[in-house]
Amino acid sequence: MVAEIIDGKAFAATVRGHVADHVARLKEEHGITPGLAVVLVGEDPASQVYVRSKGKQTVEVGMNSYEHKLSADTPQKDLLDLIDKLNNDSAVHGILVQLPLPRHMNEDLVINAIDPAKDVDGFHISNVGLLGTGQKSMVPCTPLGCLMMLRDHHGSLSGKDAVVIGRSNIVGKPMAQLLLGDSCTVTIAHSRTKDLPDVVRRADIVVAAVGRPEMVQGDWIKEGATVIDVGINRIERDGKNVLVGDVHYESAAAVAGAITPVPGGVGPMTIACLLANTLTACCRANG
Ligand code: GUN
Repeated sequence: MVAEIIDGKAFAATVRGHVADHVARLKEEHGITPGLAVVLVGEDPASQVYVRSKGKQTVEVGMNSYEHKLSADTPQKDLLDLIDKLNNDSAVHGILVQLPLPRHMNEDLVINAIDPAKDVDGFHISNVGLLGTGQKSMVPCTPLGCLMMLRDHHGSLSGKDAVVIGRSNIVGKPMAQLLLGDSCTVTIAHSRTKDLPDVVRRADIVVAAVGRPEMVQGDWIKEGATVIDVGINRIERDGKNVLVGDVHYESAAAVAGAITPVPGGVGPMTIACLLANTLTACCRANG
């Protein structure tokens, strides 16, 4: 079997197109422009690239982008004061604080200072609880993007065996909640899981979010399974700096029914979902 490639780049462009149409209508009919504030603390190069890309795409769909860059030694109190200001700014509908934060800051405390209605990352404890109990919430962007691609490929996910590899709060846990919400039988596997290849071999759907380059091998994949690769890892190969996922693409694509590439799979969908969440937050704020 040669896997169908799930084109996240094209799908994300379609999602951004829908968001842009909706934003244009909001402006025309109600005079409202959604606004997204992104806060970056420090100079982490990968975070700088992500923040720049988010700002650019926010403007491209017609929204206002507000970027706040703070130095790495900013006192936590100053960051909390900025979040308070953004919480009370009616032009700001979504707030994203780029993670990781410098070590002197308490990430949980900072994230939970964001107004849950403006928490477009879906990381606030209220949104985590709402998602876990199947109530209306802000849904974390990366798992939401994965779910949209899975629904688009399969239609119904009901009854499918899904294995999520990775138990992070950003991807693994919310991904499992979303798959459960769509009536999958869900296993969360992680670094201490026994016989991981055997566990993965049972899955109709594999979501790899471990942050280990090319860890998931083709002979771990059930024939015809759908493989969603969340990993973005930079490695040296043949003297070149290359981007690879958490899945060994060539061997997995030879057995899977469908697979997301890296780059061009999950990555573009994450930012598209961030824009969709900002639009949702704006619509909810304005009734
Ligand atoms: N760092 C890596 N991924 C994310 C994300 O989805 N949101 C935020 N805020 N920071 C991140």
